Amino acid sequence: MLICQLTDLHIRPHGVPAYRVVETNMLAERALRAVAALRPRPDAVLLTGDLTECGLDEEYALLARLLRQHLDIPVYAIPGNHDRRENFRAQLGHLPGVAGDSDFVHYAIDEHPVRLVMLDTVVPGAGHGELCGERLAWLDRTLAAAPEKPTLVGMHHPPFLCGIGHMDAINLRNSADFVGIIAKHPQVRRIVCGHHHRAIMAQVAHTIASIAPSVAHQVELAFAPAAPSAFVMEPAAYQLHRWSAADGMVTHTAYVETAPGPYPFLSDPQYPGAARN
Ligand SMILES: [Fe+2]
Repeated sequence: MLICQLTDLHIRPHGVPAYRVVETNMLAERALRAVAALRPRPDAVLLTGDLTECGLDEEYALLARLLRQHLDIPVYAIPGNHDRRENFRAQLGHLPGVAGDSDFVHYAIDEHPVRLVMLDTVVPGAGHGELCGERLAWLDRTLAAAPEKPTLVGMHHPPFLCGIGHMDAINLRNSADFVGIIAKHPQVRRIVCGHHHRAIMAQVAHTIASIAPSVAHQVELAFAPAAPSAFVMEPAAYQLHRWSAADGMVTHTAYVETAPGPYPFLSDPQYPGAARN
């Protein structure tokens, strides 16, 4: 199974760049075109939050139109801190699971070889994430319902600290509670997140938690404790999580932009290994 993860699209109303700089609508469309052209086609596309910049109806309507126009692949979406649940549901309620719960946008998808458990870590009005008691209980219950099936958990706010101070300040607040639940469920093979706009990974309980880069702007790589919150226009990217029973879950980072090549590896006579050609 090939699972494509796009994150942090930050769609704006038509004609409005994000932060007066980033043409997020164009960048999102470019990413959707790149994913649509992938062969083999992904079996699922995950959108792990910050689908819009401000959670406006017109931003979701624009995204819904782009998804319909470009992707003929099942799309599973969850909100981030830039989203508003009510508008998210109103405009994206046709996507599987989105409108299934009256309180949160969380759901499980059982129809693929990998079970997808999509979480809602949003705290309305806040930048950080948190899983309340109700959502933690839902997660535990949902994972307990299919203990044998390989499972991927999707969430916006990462449950670990990464060393970029201003992002760590708004990560998942009660990550210890979350990690305690994951540790009880060995079938969880990967936790995929957004929010940090960079490719980052860490061990969480027995598994790997990964953050995908944004398909728009990236957060500056800055480890100085007082580094200001800032973004850079590093290459837009997305991730492909490839699952097979034999090899498990393997993640690739793919760039939206195309690059020169491919070129064959023509071996130099001085190459010390075995010639490829
Ligand atoms: Fe974001």
